Amino acid sequence: MNLTLKIWRQDGPQVAGRLAEYQVSDISDDMSFLEMLDVLNEELITKGEEPIAFDSDCREGICGMCGLMISGHAHGPEVTTTCQLHMRSFKDGDTITVEPWRAEAFPVVRDLVVDRSSLDRIIQAGGFISVNTGAATEANNLPVSKPKADRAFDAATCIGCGACVAACPNASGMLFMGAKITHLSELPQGQAQRDARVVSMVNQHDHEGFGGCTNIGECSAACPKEIPLDVISTLNADFRKAKQA
Ligand code: SF4
Ligand code: FES
Repeated sequence: MNLTLKIWRQDGPQVAGRLAEYQVSDISDDMSFLEMLDVLNEELITKGEEPIAFDSDCREGICGMCGLMISGHAHGPEVTTTCQLHMRSFKDGDTITVEPWRAEAFPVVRDLVVDRSSLDRIIQAGGFISVNTGAATEANNLPVSKPKADRAFDAATCIGCGACVAACPNASGMLFMGAKITHLSELPQGQAQRDARVVSMVNQHDHEGFGGCTNIGECSAACPKEIPLDVISTLNADFRKAKQA
């Protein structure tokens, strides 16, 4: 495939950015989107030009580091992470626009790299859970029903990529936060700090500059781990209950 790429270039957080146009050729269907960018970067380096900065780590859909707005879609046209998106999702002659996540809480560091440490600070605000330490206890000592275990597990698959924030017109972090709240709220180990946790995390979320949820649902549609919208209902219910306590 031969492709035209319009890629966001920005030298630093305080510097104005712009879309720069590049041509790439002989791109295989089997390449991942990041491998295609690697090919472009090798060409830029060979020509003595500055390569495009972008984040990645595992390249297996696990770590949540990669995340690009690809022609207006968070992580591109498939429900997957950018590193697991393959070039077979595009066709010869396509023009693809590549931008960083856009949100007040995710300032651009350089080119396509944003600072997502606001998500880490929300998790830190959630604090700890109280469990007795010592030798691992027998698993059946603490019964958890199958539906609760499944829901907790599904919520815990959130990789903190930030696509939900990037896709949301309000730049809300409530799907991410709802996933973190739900996976502990469903389990006995998460009960002792349940009220304090939700209040503290919501306060941090708002302090970081994320917007509120207005039930649009773009977050869940863009989420590579298909975190369901109802984790936000759990978050809201827990927050209401904590405030009434
Ligand atoms: S909820 Fe989904 S889109 Fe949002 S950070 Fe977690 S995995 Fe990424
Ligand atoms: S690089 Fe780890 S999820 Fe994409």
